[in-house]
Amino acid sequence: MGSLEVQLNNRIQQGWQDCCPFRHSDFPKEGTMEKMRAVMIAAGVIVLGASSVQADGDPDKGKKVFARCSACHATTEQNKVGPGLLNVVGRPAGSIAGYNYSAALKGSGLTWDEPTLDAFLKAPAALVKGTRMSASIPKDQDRADVISYLKTLTAQ
Ligand code: HEC
Repeated sequence: MGSLEVQLNNRIQQGWQDCCPFRHSDFPKEGTMEKMRAVMIAAGVIVLGASSVQADGDPDKGKKVFARCSACHATTEQNKVGPGLLNVVGRPAGSIAGYNYSAALKGSGLTWDEPTLDAFLKAPAALVKGTRMSASIPKDQDRADVISYLKTLTAQ
């Protein structure tokens, strides 16, 4: 990430020289440079965000991220505050008999494939309005990692 930022900054500066061969004092309005720079940085952030969506998950790192889930979820069939997550990848949402799901999740019609899990873990209530699951993972890479860990939770 760090080196990417450096590359980006270099690119921003390069682009800057290409498009604006003036000295700072040639600018009519103070703050214009700063504004343009902010716009360029914002564009760079969007590029970075887009590239990390495609990142592959690392199950070992995901196991560590799962520490945020384990207060409520077992990696076995056992239900705790939340349903057990054994075999969760690929199964229909709200389908564990004996777990008292919200009507929202039970009636969602979703299946926990990777993109659906990604959307749910990013913002549970945005995907399933009324779900009782409130924990979210804001970072794209952390979600990719935890989902690749969830994929390892299969019965042998
Ligand atoms: C504070 C408790 C809590 C935490 C922490 C939590 N969850 Fe949940 N989770 C729940 C509850 C409660 C539900 C059931 C929601 C409902 O019925 O609407 C749920 C449901 C789920 C489901 C749907 C399972 C199914 O059978 O349909 C998945 C997947 C899930 N959680 C993954 C995670 C992951 C991954 C984490 C860690 C980032 C996590 N949860 C953290 C409480 C939690």
